[in-house]
Amino acid sequence: MESILLEKHYKPIVTKVKNLYIESYGCAMNFADSEVVASILTQNGYVTTTIEEDADVILINTCSIRENAEQRIKHRLIHLRANKKRNNELVIGILGCMAERLKKSLLEDEKLVDIVAGPDSYRDLPKLLSEVEDGNKSINVLLSLEETYAEISPTRLNSNGVTAFVSIMRGCDNMCSFCVVPFTRGRERSRDAESILNEVKELSTLGYKEVTLLGQNVDSYLWFGGGPKKEFNKLTNEEQAQSINFAKLLEMVALIDSNMRIRFSTSHPKDITDDVLFTMAKYANICKYVHLPAQSGNSRILELMNRNYTREWYMSKVNRIREIMPNCGISCDIISGFCTETEEDHSDTLSLIDLAQFDFSYMYNYSERPGTLAARKYADDVSDEVKGRRLTEIIQIQNSVSKLKNANRVGQIYRVLIEGNSKKSDLDLKGRSDQNMVVIFPKENYKPGQYVDVVIERSTTTTLVGKALNLVLSL
Ligand code: SAH
Ligand code: SF4
Ligand code: F3S
Repeated sequence: MESILLEKHYKPIVTKVKNLYIESYGCAMNFADSEVVASILTQNGYVTTTIEEDADVILINTCSIRENAEQRIKHRLIHLRANKKRNNELVIGILGCMAERLKKSLLEDEKLVDIVAGPDSYRDLPKLLSEVEDGNKSINVLLSLEETYAEISPTRLNSNGVTAFVSIMRGCDNMCSFCVVPFTRGRERSRDAESILNEVKELSTLGYKEVTLLGQNVDSYLWFGGGPKKEFNKLTNEEQAQSINFAKLLEMVALIDSNMRIRFSTSHPKDITDDVLFTMAKYANICKYVHLPAQSGNSRILELMNRNYTREWYMSKVNRIREIMPNCGISCDIISGFCTETEEDHSDTLSLIDLAQFDFSYMYNYSERPGTLAARKYADDVSDEVKGRRLTEIIQIQNSVSKLKNANRVGQIYRVLIEGNSKKSDLDLKGRSDQNMVVIFPKENYKPGQYVDVVIERSTTTTLVGKALNLVLSL
């Protein structure tokens, strides 16, 4: 009798090993999240596969940052659904920012998928998958104030065994007026410092040589004793002394393994502190590179964007970085054609690129995102044609700055961490300099995971090409 009851009421979440295929889009945080998802599901009877046709479950971790990012993913989903003809039990799920933004409509209006899971619901995936096996569609898009997946040890996907991402916080409280992230990722929260240190230690033990600490705004990282505390000013003196801010975390991570490089992304110009810059300067293994998105070079536009800094403030940060670390690499994000942007405003962006001498930039046309502050308050009044022309001008000026800067690097020696074969030739290796420049050189007997000093012989806009001089045993 009892066994019948058990049979009736006990349903194991997964009954046989199933193949899981995950595809990721968007920022590094999404790629890191996919590794958390893989970890959760491999503990629930799934094995990961890199072959789409072998999958029993396909999960797409998606990005909503611009409309064309979403369009691309929708086309991909339509293609993936064709696999259902071959395997009618195939389950397709959508994760990440698009899942959070579009919610039920993905199941109902568009009927593209079986599962919709927002960024804070990944622990629920085994349950959501079992609901689908029972013939239902399933959805969880609840955002959380606490979830950081702190203790989950990510399953590294498509890893080169040399570099890895480590999430240190989730969400964003900044409310830049153009940006959908606060809506798709929810409130900002920091991850338990100890769990971050443990993950980095584990990566070091496994032989990884570089970690990138990830957050939408790493400079506002703050962990206090038993829990994350947001506002530093509201802590008592004693609490403040015990708390771990980003500079402190960076130092603690750097001290784990002096031969492991540390990078981080993204810094917000309003929040990056001298403390962080001095910590970077102090440790040889913290890479001298800052990704410091400006978005625009015009103070009026920056105000409309709700970025909380002016052109002058931004330039003072760039100068401060170079004052403390003269050879620090700096890169930028730029948006072309934000609401009300005039030709004059645009020319301020062009002149900022020239003035700041960014090593490289990621450059985009403004794309209005439903629900954002800008979508509600301002007209998207720069035509696509003008946005496109301005973007071309932005790309041209950045390319000419990059080309000249790289040409001046010929003859210099850079310390490079080897990541793998060059894309173009198996006879060459590819790595990155401390400043995050891509460096290519002949393989000889060098191997991924090694540090080498490379003398630069020629350059392009995006790449330095040279010859390895010697192996470096310690940084
Ligand atoms: N947290 C980071 C960036 C997150 S999104 C920061 O604060 O800088 C990455 C980049 O996408 C942004 O820096 C911005 O340049 C771009 N972006 C964000 N929303 C956009 C939009 N609506 N249209 C065009 N580009 C956008
Ligand atoms: Fe978006 Fe601004 Fe947050 Fe970056 S800091 S994620 S641009 S709201
Ligand atoms: Fe895209 Fe979401 Fe990252 S919108 S950029 S995947 S936080």
